[in-house]
Amino acid sequence: MEILTRFDPALALHCQRVARLSRLIGGRLRLGDEALEELSFAGLAHDLGIIAVPKRILHKPRRLSDCEYDSVKLHVVAGVAIAQACGCGDWVLQVIRCHHERLDGSGYPVGLGGAEIDLFSRIVAVADVYVAMTAPRPYREAYLPEAALAELNNHYKYDADVVRALETVLAY
Ligand SMILES: [Fe+2]
Repeated sequence: MEILTRFDPALALHCQRVARLSRLIGGRLRLGDEALEELSFAGLAHDLGIIAVPKRILHKPRRLSDCEYDSVKLHVVAGVAIAQACGCGDWVLQVIRCHHERLDGSGYPVGLGGAEIDLFSRIVAVADVYVAMTAPRPYREAYLPEAALAELNNHYKYDADVVRALETVLAY
């Protein structure tokens, strides 16, 4: 966590929020205490590979070009390599690897789909999108929670049970 905070405090905050929300969603899905601990850690580590992306791209005040976006996508591969070198557990590697995969196969880096994407990754994906959309970016305002939920209610891409759990969490 310290390395993320030093690299970019906003990124560290994003990861903390994703970890917290993932844990709350997991609780709604009745995961056990040990699983919730693992899920929370994986949520904290999911964007570790962002430290390999040039800051001029990360902090660009406009939308990224396709080429720049391709550089950002490499954070998945970089994150897996870093986490592997640090001796992280398989569940962490899996979440780093799969948090941008989508159920309909439209995600990256591989285009996995359906049952190929594990539950932790489905949860962190939903938490990640919600936290990212509801935070402001240099090139746009923060989306309202309803707008983020409208995006997440695309059940071709996101697990409907996980999104329902998120809605329950947000209602409290
Ligand atoms: Fe990511």
